[in-house]
Amino acid sequence: MRKIDIFDTTLRDGEQSAGVMLTLQEKLEIARQLERLGADVIEAGFPAASKGDQEAVRKIASIVKESSVTGLARANKKDINTAWESLRNSAEPRIHLFIATSPVHMTYKLKKTPDQVLEEAVQSVAYAGRNFPVVQWSAEDACRSDKAFLAKIIEKVIDAGASVINIPDTVGFINPIEYGQLFRYLKENVKNIHRVKLSAHCHDDLGMATANSLSAIENGADQIECTINGIGERAGNASLEEVAVALKIRSEHYQAYTDLSLHEISRTSQLVSRLTGLAVPPNKAVVGKNAFAHESGIHQDGVLKERSTYEIITPELVGLSSNSLVLGKHSGRHAFRKQITQMGFSPAEDKVNELFSEFKNLADKKKELTEEDLYALLMEHQMKP
Ligand code: KIV
Ligand code: ZN
Repeated sequence: MRKIDIFDTTLRDGEQSAGVMLTLQEKLEIARQLERLGADVIEAGFPAASKGDQEAVRKIASIVKESSVTGLARANKKDINTAWESLRNSAEPRIHLFIATSPVHMTYKLKKTPDQVLEEAVQSVAYAGRNFPVVQWSAEDACRSDKAFLAKIIEKVIDAGASVINIPDTVGFINPIEYGQLFRYLKENVKNIHRVKLSAHCHDDLGMATANSLSAIENGADQIECTINGIGERAGNASLEEVAVALKIRSEHYQAYTDLSLHEISRTSQLVSRLTGLAVPPNKAVVGKNAFAHESGIHQDGVLKERSTYEIITPELVGLSSNSLVLGKHSGRHAFRKQITQMGFSPAEDKVNELFSEFKNLADKKKELTEEDLYALLMEHQMKP
């Protein structure tokens, strides 16, 4: 079994979600919770982006002890120096340098030739390495870059001292098979690649960020970059909770594990949702309100007999106390009886049948029936608890 490092970027790429702005106090609260969750690395911000980010990274680096703290920097001395000022007091100062390597980014955004990009990448890594014991280097837009150029630049930044190499799918463009092949290609074509950790960083523009991250693991990635609830630029980043729980549930397949305390997942998800103001969709895998809710009679009956019929993840694994059987028009007699019994009522079997048929009529008029609705029904029938 291989240990996969979890690099959480909720406070950097996650905060880049449109409409999100976290205060210093909120960032500290999230950082402490990420530490309790057991993230190996917390990307606390982009120090050169603003005074606020610089201060937040500095504070987080000084209070977080169990996770490494890092900050993003472009390939220039000013960004690197600013990052050093923010991170010098962290337990293990670590910088995350990036420069774009795809033709479209180099031509239109950077207005630089591949040779210039290569030289700046190498110089910035060497410069950062004078202070930082850990230098992570990212090839922005790696998945739309020329493979041979990517291999060449990675080889050079490894020589210059980078110890983690990140292969971002910046625009969420690639698919799982191609992303896996890219990792394999780099493993086979970059000299000294075995000396560094390989990292995956996926965006969700085509809804494939989690699948791509898992494919990277199958093809040799040592670290996954992700965010809580999958928040981030545009359609977001790979969801930490999806990747981590998939690794746990399918550990035999992936032959890999993380050191996360998975029972902290729900709490972390709720905290990030509350502080960012970004609601979690009800059907969101692992952390959505409906992720452990069973509505249809057939499913409810199955779950009441044996939970694993329809539950591959137990709610307890991610820190929830129980699943829920939602009472609606698809619900069955078993779930109905269980609910009224929990409410303290124990009618005879033929009375249950009569109540159940009235319940079905009501359920045709209302999407979800609450405990109050059931109580009103029971009272109409003069039932006593
Ligand atoms: O998506 C991306 O390419 C990034 C880099 C800065 C790592 O967030
Ligand atoms: Zn990103």
